[in-house]
Amino acid sequence: MTVTEIIHLNAQSPDEDKIARAAAFICAGEVVAFPTETVYGLGANAFDAEAVEKIFAAKGRPAHDPLIVHIGAVDELSLVTKDIPDFAVRLASHFWPGPLTLVLKRQPVIPLNVSAGLETVAVRMPNHPIALALIRASQTAIAAPSANLFSGVSPTSAQHVLADLNGRIPMILDGGRTLVGVESTVIDCTSWPPVVLRPGGIGLEELREFLGEVAVHSGEKGGMQVSASPGMLDKHYSPRARLFYCLTEREELYRDYFQTEMTAQLRSGHKVGMLVTSEDQPWLSELFPGIEQILLGSEKEPQQIAAGLYAALREMDERQVDCIFVRDIGTEGVALAIRDRLIRAAYEVKRFSDHQL
Ligand code: TXA
Ligand code: MG
Repeated sequence: MTVTEIIHLNAQSPDEDKIARAAAFICAGEVVAFPTETVYGLGANAFDAEAVEKIFAAKGRPAHDPLIVHIGAVDELSLVTKDIPDFAVRLASHFWPGPLTLVLKRQPVIPLNVSAGLETVAVRMPNHPIALALIRASQTAIAAPSANLFSGVSPTSAQHVLADLNGRIPMILDGGRTLVGVESTVIDCTSWPPVVLRPGGIGLEELREFLGEVAVHSGEKGGMQVSASPGMLDKHYSPRARLFYCLTEREELYRDYFQTEMTAQLRSGHKVGMLVTSEDQPWLSELFPGIEQILLGSEKEPQQIAAGLYAALREMDERQVDCIFVRDIGTEGVALAIRDRLIRAAYEVKRFSDHQL
């Protein structure tokens, strides 16, 4: 068993010697977990097929699920991709560093296991000083999926990574909690209009405003449900507890659902937890006093909710609840990514006929 070392770093100005040690691991074909602005990644040299293989092994990730290649500068895009359309360069120049991943034609130097055998590869430049310092010190591109066990909840702190991968990887760079909290938006740029395959940190409105036209993968009906790209499984991001997700913003509907379903769960002797908005906290606390609850923030601030969502799901598992209740907060900005992840994480999605995207 590998001993997992945790290196504490200042997120804003990481210590160069510590980064150099981590980079030496990457150059030696090892894997290193590191923070990005979205979630923690588990990285390896993107040009080294054997090193990349270790990512799949550590996560228990199936080989058909392609990875994202992280680069340190916009002009490195041409090292890993080819036939780059003009609009993709504009997207990169505008949104990078940041939570936007571009799918483009793969340069043959990128090993096939990075992109699960596809002719395309996903690339992004992360907006995090530690991630960027690691990439630059390694003098390579770093392939990295989220640093969690396959199909589980993505990590937003070094402790989350440790909980999943202790003994399976040699090093975790600890830069504190990640700010965005959900993964990057993945957009397929191999055709026009480009197609959003996975909603994420950059909202659809922002992309549409910038490009004029952006398609959304056709599986999208009340959250991305059908796989757009390999590895986009319907069951994903799941806590151990059963997640009950009420997919409506209409107050009378979710109030009724919470009241009925939580009462039923409590009657069957289950330990219930709820993730609540500040708007719902007063009435829910009154109706269900003494129930495990975590405050996510105001529904008017989806960014705040996204930042704490994964930690809240993991925390509920630590509190050993049997089921978790949460409701929808719409589709604006990062809220669409929240909806997508909750649908995938859910044991039950309660839909209503009035529901529209
Ligand atoms: O924010 C993020 O994107 C984080 C941080 C670490 O950068 N990474 C992340 O990686 O979320 P991962 O592996 O958990 O999700 C990557 C997803 C894949 O599941 C797949 O759906 C999509 O990106 N993807 C990767 N390569 C692709 C390709 N060639 N074509 C279509 N989709 C691709
Ligand atoms: Mg992932």
